[in-house]
Amino acid sequence: MPEHRPLRLAVFASGRGSNAMAIFSAVRSGRLPGIDPVLLVCDREKAPVLEKARESGVPAVQILPRSYPSKDDYEKAILAHLHDKKADAIALAGYMRLVGPVLIGAFPDRILNIHPSLLPAFPGLHAQRQAIDYGVRVTGVTVHFVDLLMDHGPIILQKSVPVFPEDTEETLVERLLPVEHEAYVEALAAFSGGRLQLSGRRVLWKAD
Ligand code: GAR
Repeated sequence: MPEHRPLRLAVFASGRGSNAMAIFSAVRSGRLPGIDPVLLVCDREKAPVLEKARESGVPAVQILPRSYPSKDDYEKAILAHLHDKKADAIALAGYMRLVGPVLIGAFPDRILNIHPSLLPAFPGLHAQRQAIDYGVRVTGVTVHFVDLLMDHGPIILQKSVPVFPEDTEETLVERLLPVEHEAYVEALAAFSGGRLQLSGRRVLWKAD
């Protein structure tokens, strides 16, 4: 069997960057042999993830939407960086912005996202607070392919996490984050190993 070259992955993040770091650290420790992280794209000025990526040895660029006349122009600027790095796929890791047609068109079924709820429950901002306010006893994390709608595309993987009556948004965020990190690495391993097959909205996992 010929060895496949690693998937050249661009990671997009807006803030703290714990999911991006979990991916980079899984690559370093050999848990993601099929992934080569080639670029970190950040859409916010002075986001901590920029420095953290550089410390991990991953080139990081800050591309600010307000520097461009339209969302299409902003995404075309990102695309130029992605082409420059010969990126094959994108992992959104706390990228707090809706991806538009330019990027989706350039990377069809090749953009993944992680969201801190069991989608389709609680899409959008503050999913953990939404879960607490709704009164659910179980929430979780979802890794999914990205389409044009918010937190909406075909679901790759979900993991559940309990919600306790005494939980605050902060305690629930803390319980969810390590599960996010684990789920993203698992999903990316399957994706880079060519083990995910789309059938409409359903994602079928092929055996190793
Ligand atoms: C994570 O909880 C991620 O799931 C969430 O933003 C946080 C980023 O944290 N993403 C979304 O809500 C996407 N809709 P991080 O910067 O530490 O990875």
